[in-house]
Amino acid sequence: MKILLASSELHPYSKTGGLADMVGALAKFLAKAGHRVGVVTPLYQGIEEKFPDIKWFDWSINLPMGSKWVQGEIWTHEVSENLTIYFVRKPEYYFRNGLYEERHISFPDNSERFIFLSKCAVNLARHLAWKPEIVHVHDWQVGLVPLLIQHQHDEDGWVDPPRTCLTIHNLAYQGVFPKTHYELTNLPQKYFHPAGTEFFGMFNCLKAGLEFSDLITTVSPRYAREITTEVFGCALDGVLRRRQNALIGLLNGVDYEEWKTVGNPHLKHPYSIDDFSGKELNKVELQKELGLPVNPDIPLFGNISRLADQKGVDIQLGALEEMLATDMQFVQLGSGSPEFERGYRRLAERHPDKVSVTIGFDQGLSHRIEAGCDFFLMPSRFEPCGLNQMYSLRYGTLPIVRITGGLDDSVIDVSEDPDKANGIKFQEYSVRALAKAIRKALVLYADHELLDHYRHNAMSADFSWERSADAYEKVYKRLIGM
Ligand code: ADP
Ligand code: GLC
Repeated sequence: MKILLASSELHPYSKTGGLADMVGALAKFLAKAGHRVGVVTPLYQGIEEKFPDIKWFDWSINLPMGSKWVQGEIWTHEVSENLTIYFVRKPEYYFRNGLYEERHISFPDNSERFIFLSKCAVNLARHLAWKPEIVHVHDWQVGLVPLLIQHQHDEDGWVDPPRTCLTIHNLAYQGVFPKTHYELTNLPQKYFHPAGTEFFGMFNCLKAGLEFSDLITTVSPRYAREITTEVFGCALDGVLRRRQNALIGLLNGVDYEEWKTVGNPHLKHPYSIDDFSGKELNKVELQKELGLPVNPDIPLFGNISRLADQKGVDIQLGALEEMLATDMQFVQLGSGSPEFERGYRRLAERHPDKVSVTIGFDQGLSHRIEAGCDFFLMPSRFEPCGLNQMYSLRYGTLPIVRITGGLDDSVIDVSEDPDKANGIKFQEYSVRALAKAIRKALVLYADHELLDHYRHNAMSADFSWERSADAYEKVYKRLIGM
């Protein structure tokens, strides 16, 4: 099949979260399975320097954006014979200190930046010589693509356009703008109504995708069910219920060529399911690196995340404050809301011998935390899929997760299956419930045999991308048959 993906972030070129990992791996594994794959994504500041093979594609784009015309260029990276990255090069839009925001303030022209990206993706879908059969877009930034394609089919002579699929990675981010921004789409007013792109008088980019894409997927089966309810639906549950027959939940995979405990350039000490000894050495390295008292016997808890309300920061801070009275250590890597950053900094100040907090984004450290910790905390309020709990499992670091979304679909609690248990789950969103789960972890940690049993189960869990890519192939086949 011939598939064009579009995403505002893409590993290894750009990343703020799991979206980048997911689209990067999906593209790679679809190409490995023999499909012709392209990915459209912005050329952000610094990418050209890191990837000198990126070349101008001899493709200039001049597109109407409201009342003006905007020019950009397409540059490409040929990753393999059947995988091409199409970078939209428009320095005025994308060469900035941040993908979406700077100093916690969203760029005021985000609608323009990503409507332009969407229009470029449609331009490529229509004119690329290899004629994509499927256009698969990810999240609100490219949510407008299915409508733009449908409109060009209906009114602009595009005879046999590709089928479209939208993946929701996070329903909480919708790309909602004042209705005046709709003009930037250059689409007729007829699509700006409540069964189209309008959302309580505003213009909603994700809703455009939900209404006009042929199929909708999201990144775990449980989240697919959750988002059709009022509690998790972010005011779009009505649209999702209406489109329920087109909505499919598929769990993301893990790229085990990157997230591995043997031959990983970020880890000093390799270890495997047959020999955990290197894990303890990585723990000691991590304690040294982060300035914590070095002691392999102290249970070490970790967390790596965007510091957003979604991630359960408030109950995590509360539960840690309570639990740090016991013999344990905690390491945090993350950045995000200034209030949450302050909360973690204060926690580290109050417990300097037990807590290390790194505010920032550090890929290498994220591997070392995954490898060096004994337990990984993910007390999310909601979690469409979540990748870190799956990375943790592979690193033999037992995840402590709230029962929601992909966290529920990927971790096994003792109450579900004692033989296969590989983590700890809790339901209630409260400090008390999380503290209780941490207490369970401490009991588990003290029982070496049981701990080994859990670690063994964790490291043998299989979320390989081959399986997830297979599931997307089935979606694409269904689309082509439509
Ligand atoms: P989300 O996409 O909601 O942020 P996921 O669990 O799906 O959550 O994916 C998060 C990804 O981003 C993981 O690869 C994680 O390691 C990475 N990540 C998040 N914050 C940081 C950080 N501060 N430094 C390095 N990697 C990070
Ligand atoms: C989003 C979600 C996260 C998911 C990731 C990749 O950022 O918050 O749960 O794992 O996308 O699909």
